[in-house]
Amino acid sequence: MTSPDQFGVFTTDQLDECVEFFRVHGFAVLRGLFPESGLCTVEAECAAAQQRLAAGELPDHYGTAILVDDQVDQPPLPNYVTYVTDLSPAVTAAVTHPVLADLVGRWLPDDHWLLEQQRFGVVYQDARPGPDSGYTRIGWHTDWQSGPHLDIWPAVAFTLHVDATSPANGFLRVVPGSHRWCTPAPFANANGAVVPDGAPPAGGHTGEAPPVQMPLGFDKVAGEVAVYCERGDTLFHDAYLWHAAARGTDDAALRRHVRGSFHSGAARLDGEHLDDFVKNAAR
Ligand SMILES: [Fe+2]
Repeated sequence: MTSPDQFGVFTTDQLDECVEFFRVHGFAVLRGLFPESGLCTVEAECAAAQQRLAAGELPDHYGTAILVDDQVDQPPLPNYVTYVTDLSPAVTAAVTHPVLADLVGRWLPDDHWLLEQQRFGVVYQDARPGPDSGYTRIGWHTDWQSGPHLDIWPAVAFTLHVDATSPANGFLRVVPGSHRWCTPAPFANANGAVVPDGAPPAGGHTGEAPPVQMPLGFDKVAGEVAVYCERGDTLFHDAYLWHAAARGTDDAALRRHVRGSFHSGAARLDGEHLDDFVKNAAR
């Protein structure tokens, strides 16, 4: 019998169980893949990149506000560093780790690829809840809704946690099994926004309609669970999974992670950089 603190959490000697849990529930946490020494390097390199971006020492395309929800005016510290594999060898090593590649290879078709030099690439996210932050939470969405017109799905997202998550600093909310629902396609988590030309009306691993409508913003969904991670955990979630990030209650707390996604589909987005993504999103 799995204890509550082990629900959805797997160690590196439980990869088969991790794969199966993900298929059933649409998410899984892998614990123990990255040692503290490697994490320290990831943390240091990402923090340095963020400081360089804040100081204006990096080209503009390493920063973005388009991923920010609940944006405030001119936060002093950028919440995102995009294309972070260009700036951090430790992040590059982490996202190309053979165990991570093995798992993703079991969830996606053979021709899958890491979104790295396309759109916004691998992203370092500093989601601290305090007043110096422009990002504190994000409402219900599926990642597929950010580009339902693109042939880049199915996909698997990963989040490598620099900080453990809790009610104090914010955490991920998910609806287990919702990756199987065929969810309607509002664009980029902007409820009511225009669905891009060429997008199917709904997407998911089956044609089964969701039992409830996806709420606007942050309302409770029947069956949702909180996913709490420890420092060093890698959280995987399916691009069709309903998820939202809850705001932390402690403004002095930090919630930092590296996130990215592996995709399948014919469109590898060659040449589509963040600038194009912004233009398309603004339509
Ligand atoms: Fe997401």
